[in-house]
Amino acid sequence: MVEMTDIRNIVILTGAGVSAESGIDTFRDAGGLWEKHRVEDVATPEAFARDPDLVHRFYDMRRAAIQTKKPNDAHYALAELDRHWRGEGRNLLIVTQNVDDLHERAGAERLLHMHGEHLVALCQACEIRSPWTGPMQHRPPCPICGTPSLRPDVVWFGEMPYHIPEIYSAIRTADLFVSIGTSGAVYPAAGFVRDAKQQGAKTLELNLEPSQGSHFFDEARYGPATEVVPEWVDELLDL
Ligand code: OAD
Repeated sequence: MVEMTDIRNIVILTGAGVSAESGIDTFRDAGGLWEKHRVEDVATPEAFARDPDLVHRFYDMRRAAIQTKKPNDAHYALAELDRHWRGEGRNLLIVTQNVDDLHERAGAERLLHMHGEHLVALCQACEIRSPWTGPMQHRPPCPICGTPSLRPDVVWFGEMPYHIPEIYSAIRTADLFVSIGTSGAVYPAAGFVRDAKQQGAKTLELNLEPSQGSHFFDEARYGPATEVVPEWVDELLDL
């Protein structure tokens, strides 16, 4: 078993629960996004082909909303951990399923968005990504090639998540894997804990309640992210 004091390489997976207290709806909790909107209507390539106006309206609303939200203490604690750990020459990677930008606004640097980002537009003509804060519903031109064929750069159901080789490469050398605020319902992210465990990492879950894969974790702490995440980071940095 890995001792906490021996930990050098950390991989942290985050989900919607980490941004819940910033006022961003989760997906599967009561009142969550997938209760208000059907995945098949707004979050698949087929939905976009069938009714691009509806899909653009949905993402335009979400893109506008996240820009009114602020990082919370969980985002700040993880950014602080990233900074400290880097200062000691240790590896850390935050893999987020979230499409908001609250981790980076809190100051986290070693971060991958495996499900894409609300604030990025992907041009379907030239396939180049551009920063994007406004709406897309009126079909604005791509800032690079001028074609009016932008789509939100979010990974829809049926599409391949981003950065998979880098994520697995970090998991292969991780000695601590931490999952924060995710229900463990969506693969491949839900399987990372097993991969990490198999190669010898200690595994920890921080969530409001047990996730679907809670039995795979060596340790779990339940409570709101703004409480359990700063507590855990303080403990780790005090070791
Ligand atoms: P979910 O909505 O499935 O799960 C959110 C988790 O956060 C649940 O386990 C909650 O118990 C927990 N939670 C809620 N409030 C919390 C709080 N204040 N503190 C700590 N935990 C809290 O969201 P994800 O697991 O992120 O994918 O969903 C994974 C993916 O499914 C998303 O990235 C999205 C979605 O469909 C795509 O759109 C591709």
